[in-house]
Amino acid sequence: MSMNIAIDGPAGAGKSTIAKRVAKELGFIYVDTGAMYRAMALYILRHGVNEKEESAVAAVCDRIDVALRYVDGNQMVLLCGEDVSTEIRKEEVGNMASVTSVYPCVRQKLLSLQQDLAAREDVIMDGRDIGTCVLPDAPLKIYLTASVETRAKRRYQELQEKGQTCDLTEIMKDIEDRDYRDMHREISPLAQAEDAILVDSSDMTIEEVVAKITDLAKERM
Ligand code: C5P
Repeated sequence: MSMNIAIDGPAGAGKSTIAKRVAKELGFIYVDTGAMYRAMALYILRHGVNEKEESAVAAVCDRIDVALRYVDGNQMVLLCGEDVSTEIRKEEVGNMASVTSVYPCVRQKLLSLQQDLAAREDVIMDGRDIGTCVLPDAPLKIYLTASVETRAKRRYQELQEKGQTCDLTEIMKDIEDRDYRDMHREISPLAQAEDAILVDSSDMTIEEVVAKITDLAKERM
């Protein structure tokens, strides 16, 4: 049987950075489910689908083919066969993903993909509903969070390093809006699973968080 680790938490808490490193330490596959929601959102953006109309999104859902490939342990996201791994990182795609991920048609489609993958492989999977919905029986669940200020500053630095122009106040507002939408949607809202361990990374280094989660995983293997 495969061993699965679930990591959930709000935008910018450092889930992907941490999960990638823990995966390397343990020899697990890192699955970034946000990237899958982003790929669906990119399709919706590119095709000018009205994201406010559930029926318009549902009408194209079947046509959207999202797949993951792993090259040297790195996740590649394919949208209808095209590698969109870089393009989905744009802020507008992330914001669109948080709008379109409220729809059942979008969630259903990705849920089965995620569960199939976790059944086959040892995975550390990050997202919003992994511990509560996708992998309810995962032996280790982490709820990783940090203050809004910390998360906004980290995102700001990340974007600056990539040479993208950005505004800290705007990022903070986007993060707050995204948190609100993710936590208040009807289906699979972002929430800490009852049996998840809370890790607040505001005053922790990346290394400290990685060590903590790796130790917890080893105790359960
Ligand atoms: O984590 P990331 O910022 O890439 O996720 C983009 C958006 O996708 C989130 O704001 C959230 O609305 C959605 N998402 C989700 N469920 C997941 C992962 C991401 O609804 N498991």
